[in-house]
Amino acid sequence: MKILSVVGARPQFIKAALMSAEFEKRGLPEILVHTGQHYDYQMSQVFFDQMSLPAPKFYLGVGSGTHAFQTAEIMERLEPVVAAERPTWVLIYGDTNTTLAAALVASKLKIPLAHIEAGLRSFNKAMPEEINRIVADHIADALFVPNKRAADQLRSEGITKGVHIVGDLMVDSVMQLVERTDPSEVLSRFRVRAKEYALATVHRASNTDDPTAFARIVEGLRRISLPVIFPIHPRSLQLAKGQSLGQNGDNVIVSEPLPYADMIALERHARVILTDSGGVQKEALVLRVPCVTLRDETEWPETLEDGWNALAGTNVNSIEMLAQRDYPNTEPGDYYGNGSAAANIASVLSSSGHERELDYSNSRKMEDRQVTRRELSSIVRRP
Ligand code: UD1
Ligand code: UDP
Repeated sequence: MKILSVVGARPQFIKAALMSAEFEKRGLPEILVHTGQHYDYQMSQVFFDQMSLPAPKFYLGVGSGTHAFQTAEIMERLEPVVAAERPTWVLIYGDTNTTLAAALVASKLKIPLAHIEAGLRSFNKAMPEEINRIVADHIADALFVPNKRAADQLRSEGITKGVHIVGDLMVDSVMQLVERTDPSEVLSRFRVRAKEYALATVHRASNTDDPTAFARIVEGLRRISLPVIFPIHPRSLQLAKGQSLGQNGDNVIVSEPLPYADMIALERHARVILTDSGGVQKEALVLRVPCVTLRDETEWPETLEDGWNALAGTNVNSIEMLAQRDYPNTEPGDYYGNGSAAANIASVLSSSGHERELDYSNSRKMEDRQVTRRELSSIVRRP
């Protein structure tokens, strides 16, 4: 039994930290591969340092580029790693290019593929993540979904085998962390008081590839009568400079991307969160902070049901109005499980991993092509 986990982007490090701890607890061997999709200290290494995530055995160093470049480069560098390691499962998370590339590599090598956060849909194929998650779901052997709605979605697409309702790792992670986190240092660093500031994040292609969309969001943030803490994803850095964010008495306070514990502390004590992030929408819900989603749709529709989340798109008036709305008076439902997603996933992987007759014929073909461990070490470099 051997699990090969492939991660590369910020939210994947957070989810993988929970899974790695669970594998270790059960004595299940795991090989961690970091594709290098995210590489700045604040986007990558800080999560390894702060979340007890073991150092990856393989760092593929792929970096940024167009979708085709990044996906192809990950595939090319990952294939010999998977072929040489011959895992029982390749484990992938979410909907990034890292996820898509690893899904294709595993399935072409005939290695069983397990997808965490399966069954989610925004129904917007202009969103790169929607393509990635559809492909990953349709070729995965084990599909870990957060709830029945996601399982029903898969069934409507003809996927009925290997679907397991397990809850949500990110929700479990925030619930575990929040009680241990003292917010006083981070609140004083930003000179804000609990419930007297807003928190914003922006990184979606639709909001950052189009400078006018980003400018509308900024105008919306500036209309909010609260300080707005805005940790800038590197993708938005140039746009933020172009809008003179954080200068000349601006109510927007910019910062580097934050370490996870600081981010969760700031989320918990914010009066409102404005975001286009998937993970942050869920975190706002479980922390009972009103959220304004800076998109026209969400793949987490449960968050909208009780009024804790609302879609503003990039409409300036909607952003202003929804950010200043009252607290909803209904408690949200229990949409994302009971804190045992990691245990549920590990149980499925360990039980079905033993039953399987594995077919490494395509991995052997790789060896026929002389992809040796020596070559592997020249492809793969450590951080
Ligand atoms: C990616 C995922 C997205 C996920 C997000 C998490 C895809 C298609 N998108 O988006 O689903 O929500 O990660 O944060 O996989 N950059 C740096 N330093 C870094 C990383 C990125 O400067 O460490 C800059 C580069 O200019 C890069 C740009 O950010 O071109 C975008 O990075 P990329 O990984 O392609 O996409 P994200 O927007 O981060
Ligand atoms: N996050 C963080 N620091 C930040 C911004 C986000 O630690 O400056 C965390 C956030 O709390 C959540 C995760 O990163 O757990 C979400 O990642 P991101 O928004 O990059 O991706 P998405 O969830 O949209 O795929």
